[in-house]
Amino acid sequence: MDRAERLALSVASGMLVVFLAAVIFAVVQLDITLPTCLTSMEPFESGEVIQHTADRFEVHYLAMMWDFEPAEIEVPRGATVDLYLTSEDVLHGFQILGTNINLMAVPGTVNYARVRFDTAGRYRIVCHEYCGVDHQSMAAAINVVEP
Ligand code: CUA
Repeated sequence: MDRAERLALSVASGMLVVFLAAVIFAVVQLDITLPTCLTSMEPFESGEVIQHTADRFEVHYLAMMWDFEPAEIEVPRGATVDLYLTSEDVLHGFQILGTNINLMAVPGTVNYARVRFDTAGRYRIVCHEYCGVDHQSMAAAINVVEP
């Protein structure tokens, strides 16, 4: 190993130590939580739509072989939707096409994401994790309508 290689490895190793120390400092000293979609919520056994205000919705999605519950919902354009997702059987995917929402439905846990719909239209939800013989038929939709 020549001198330049040793220097490059030393700098890279030093940076890893600094980054790790910064993360530990942020979590322990500054009480900053690392970004995660995991919640401490108890898994639910059915899908549900809860409307908080005219443009704030909370949707509990239950994935199962081979459906999502609820399958179809309607929200007004401009709505913010808090999504909670779990699975009653195996690992499923949950991708809302046309948005950046891409979650996993994991049995025994609840995952979370927030999405705001600024454009009206039909947003299809697909399972993008192979989950069994009827995987390709797992779909749902969010219909975003003019208020
Ligand atoms: Cu559920 Cu693929």
